[in-house]
Order: sequence, then C-alpha cells, then structure tokens
Amino acid sequence: MGITILAIESSCDETAASVCKDGEILSNVIASQSVHEQYGGVVPELASRAHMQNIVPVVDQAMSQAGLQLSDLSAVAFTQAPGLIGSLLVGTQFAKSISLSLQIPLIAVHHMQAHVLANLIPAERPEFPFLCLTVSGGHTQIVLAKSALELEVIGETIDDAAGEAFDKTAKLLGLPYPGGPLIDKYAKLGDPFKFKFAEPQIPELNFSFSGLKTSVLYFLQKQEPGFIEAHRNDLCASVQHTIVQILLKKLAKAVQQTQVKQVCIAGGVSANSGLRNGLIEMGQKRGWKTFIPDFSYCTDNAAMIAITAYHKFQQSDFVSLSVNPSARAEW
Ligand code: KG4
Ligand code: ZN
Repeated sequence: MGITILAIESSCDETAASVCKDGEILSNVIASQSVHEQYGGVVPELASRAHMQNIVPVVDQAMSQAGLQLSDLSAVAFTQAPGLIGSLLVGTQFAKSISLSLQIPLIAVHHMQAHVLANLIPAERPEFPFLCLTVSGGHTQIVLAKSALELEVIGETIDDAAGEAFDKTAKLLGLPYPGGPLIDKYAKLGDPFKFKFAEPQIPELNFSFSGLKTSVLYFLQKQEPGFIEAHRNDLCASVQHTIVQILLKKLAKAVQQTQVKQVCIAGGVSANSGLRNGLIEMGQKRGWKTFIPDFSYCTDNAAMIAITAYHKFQQSDFVSLSVNPSARAEW
C-alpha cells in the first residue's frame, strides 16, 4: 500500500503543500505572498491572513497534482517550529483537522531539520553521516547529520543570519525586499574583488554577520551621491563574495574537524549562485562529495516537510492533537 503523506508548510510567507509517496515527491505547490514587498519585510499579521486564504486551494492543488484523494493518505504533516506563530497556527490547525477527520497520524516537523533533509529528495543523495550548511533568512547553521532523525548543530550564527546579511545590505543598496536574489542577479555582472569588506574573526564553527552590514553602511556613507547607482553590480558582487567566503571557510573548518567529506547546502540562501559555484569548486579542490538541492527545494517549500515526515513515519514518530506550534523551538 505504501506510505503516502500530505505535508503543509506555513512558517513564514509561503503557503505550501506537498504529497510524497514512499519518499518520492508527487507534488510541490507554493503560493508566495507578494503583499509584504511594499513593507520591506514580512508583516506577521498579513502573513497569517494570506495563509488562511491560500491553504485550501494550495492543499487541493497538491492533492490533485499527485492524482490522489484525501482517503489515500497514510498521514498528514505540518511545520511545527520555528516561525511566525500566527502563520504556524494556520498550518497546524489545518493538519490537525485532516488528521482528526480522516483518523490518520499527525507528524510535527521542525523547519530547520526539514531544510537539511531536503537533500534526501533527489535520487543522488548523500549517505550518513553528512554535513549540511543551512543558510536561510532566519538561520545559519552547520549541521552534522548522523541519521535522518539525529541532527546535531555544530556551528551557528551569533547574530544575523546569512539571509539577513543579504537582505539588509541589499536594503542599504536601495534594493527591494527580499534583496538576496537581487544581489545574486547583479553580482553576476560585477567584479567580486572591486570592494573589500572585513570578514569577522569568530571562534569555532560559529558565524557573525552584523559587522558586515555595518561595514557596508560606513563605506557607503563616505561616498559621493550617485555612487551606488554607478557601482551597483560591483557592490553586489563584492558583498556576495564576502558572505560566501565567510560561509565556505567555516564549512572547510567543519570538514577538517569532523573528517566528514559529504557536504550539502540547504535553505533559501543555498539558491545563491555564488555559494553554489563556490561549494562545487571547493569540493573539487578538496575531494569532497557535494550535494546541492534543486532551487525549488532550497527556498521554503513543503516537499522538505514531506520527506522529513516520511522518515518520521517510519519511526512511528507521531504527535497527538494537543500539539502546539512554537515560534522558537530548539531541536
Ligand atoms: O529558507 P528561506 O526561503 O526562508 C527562511 O526560512 O528564512 O530563506 C529566505 C532567505 C531570504 O533572506 C532571501 O533573501 C534568501 O533566502 N535568498 C537568497 C537567494 N534566494 C533566496 N539569498 C541570496 N541569493 C539568492 N539567490
Ligand atoms: Zn526556511
């Protein structure tokens, strides 16, 4: 009969649903919320309202693209943490209702664990143990994955996340939110060595990005009017190069410390072409086996929730209807 799971992701500003059968993704539907653009960041209340509007059509579409009925489901999964609490509640309550009405198990998934396990979706996937650099708008972590459900955070940011570093410097450069993808776009046309920004000296496998934003700010304050417009591509390329170097140097240190040479990336920032190319190059030089998920599995999506739930299902790792979402759950 197989294991068929419907998964829902609603932790931030994407309403997403995916169906997975025996570890194979049958559908992966995402409704992005454009309402936040005019505010320069995600407005939590508006996000919750948009999730309410989107969730039924998104789940419907995920089921029909998979060619399945609700009665075919073995379990329903949802993102339990971390995220915006109002947004998480929409997905949580929706999943609970499906679990209750169909009398099928409910599976709670941690968003950051799911970003790591997105690497298990493609046919060519890492074997355990592997390392994963998870870089998103809210997190920057190096994770040692010993098995699907045994993930250890061995390094993380002490202040801003890598995605925030992209978005905040993009804002300084006058680019709209979220600026990460735009920096990536303009960086392709610029010189990464044109401007130098200081790299922080942080011990162990931890990161810091708040200093970079300040150093870009001070640098821009010293320039003539019109400087940003005239040097946009070089500025983007130089900022991106600095962020990617900070990430890759720590990743190299993690490989050296753990001697684990299968290396993955995950999270929204892993869509960045500078990081993707940098990782491939570094892997080739140092003899690592590198894995980079498809773009659609890098940024927030429900397929990663579905694949994580598939592994949890196999361990009968279910939750009861009394489960609550959490904005900041540890894992
Ligand atoms: O994982 P994600 O979709 O959502 C969170 O859980 O945070 O990550 C979103 C972050 C944003 O900061 C966005 O600017 C960044 O990922 N991002 C990128 C790129 N695509 C998305 N940053 C740099 N280059 C990109 N191509
Ligand atoms: Zn995410």
